[in-house]
Amino acid sequence: NQDQDLAGKRVLVTAGPTCESIDPIRYITNHSSGKMGYSIAEAAQKRGATVVLVSGPTHIEPPLNVEVIQIKSALEMYEAVLRQYENQDMVIKAAAVGDYRPALKADQKIKKSDDELVIQMVKNPDILLELGKRKKQQVLVGFAAETMNMLSYAKGKLEKKNLDLIVANNVTENGAGFGGDTNIVYLINRSGKTIKIEKSSKLEIAHQILNEAKTYL
Ligand code: C5P
Repeated sequence: NQDQDLAGKRVLVTAGPTCESIDPIRYITNHSSGKMGYSIAEAAQKRGATVVLVSGPTHIEPPLNVEVIQIKSALEMYEAVLRQYENQDMVIKAAAVGDYRPALKADQKIKKSDDELVIQMVKNPDILLELGKRKKQQVLVGFAAETMNMLSYAKGKLEKKNLDLIVANNVTENGAGFGGDTNIVYLINRSGKTIKIEKSSKLEIAHQILNEAKTYL
């Protein structure tokens, strides 16, 4: 695993949650810790790749010798990723991007008044879908965090987003998903080959993802 098999390759990884502001004080986010994406960035760097990590807010140290671009919202992630896309050989989208954002961000703190508060949300752009449409040399890897019908939803996303590989995990399983140091995943490639990776550290899974993805370089 640890040889320099990605030397000379440019790999962009996204990680963490996005934060969608409601007003200057509050935001809507999700439970992503960023660990899976940070592990992928670390593994790719150790294997010789030049790595850019586009990260939402997390509490973990970025890996050494990786260029980190910090963003907050999905729109900021969209801009950062598209700016880098042309030069990349591989893009691995491990971030949990917010699907919706508040339609308006209030300039001032929203004051407590009525018993109910309705926040209207609008759809964020699907970054990976956009990358799939513009794909040239880039190997594209997506994630699918599901709570049911995992494999069929994941295959659907692989096709719809024009991916080479999708990493599917059932986030309700013990030892899988958000926050922890381990994960249980299926890797499904574009020819339909499906590999189950039993409970392993996120770093070990990162290496397996790179092993599969590099066959498309
Ligand atoms: O469709 P879904 O959001 O479940 O797809 C998950 C994959 O798509 C992940 O790789 C995620 O990073 C990416 N994604 C994205 N932009 C979005 C939503 C998801 O790049 N707005």
